[in-house]
Amino acid sequence: MPPIKRLPELEGISREHHDGLLLCWKIRAGTAKGVAPARIQRYCRRFLKEHLKPHFDIEESVLFPILGHEHPGVRKAMAEHRRLQRLINGRSDAALAISLVEEELEAHIRFEERQLFNLIQEAATPGQLVEVEKAHALIHSSVAVKDVPDDVFWEQ
Ligand SMILES: [Fe+2]
Ligand SMILES: [Fe+2]
Repeated sequence: MPPIKRLPELEGISREHHDGLLLCWKIRAGTAKGVAPARIQRYCRRFLKEHLKPHFDIEESVLFPILGHEHPGVRKAMAEHRRLQRLINGRSDAALAISLVEEELEAHIRFEERQLFNLIQEAATPGQLVEVEKAHALIHSSVAVKDVPDDVFWEQ
């Protein structure tokens, strides 16, 4: 099936998926280079707080209601949001946690890009699309400037 073109109002949120896929790549690269799992996990925790959580929040507050919270695809995505947050912030073994995050975050993003976002953009009214774009712009204008530089563990 050819990919469906993303509507411009959803492009901003869709673009954040590239950052998520990049995180998965960084986990793989760091692991291959023997970087300590705890260090990669620390990076994941910061990424969750600064990027992933705001992304999950906007999906759950303005995007998913377009299909309704009872929609099976929405339920699946929301369960995955909860699980990813538990994996990243949980106390289980760091090596196991980051390898599951790498696998499951990538699968989650693929599911949204290939299926869920297409259903959402087909169902959305023009008014809802305007709201999505407004909400996304608002989040980004309120994100504080980060003064702590990234720990570029994957470049070692
Ligand atoms: Fe999501
Ligand atoms: Fe997403």
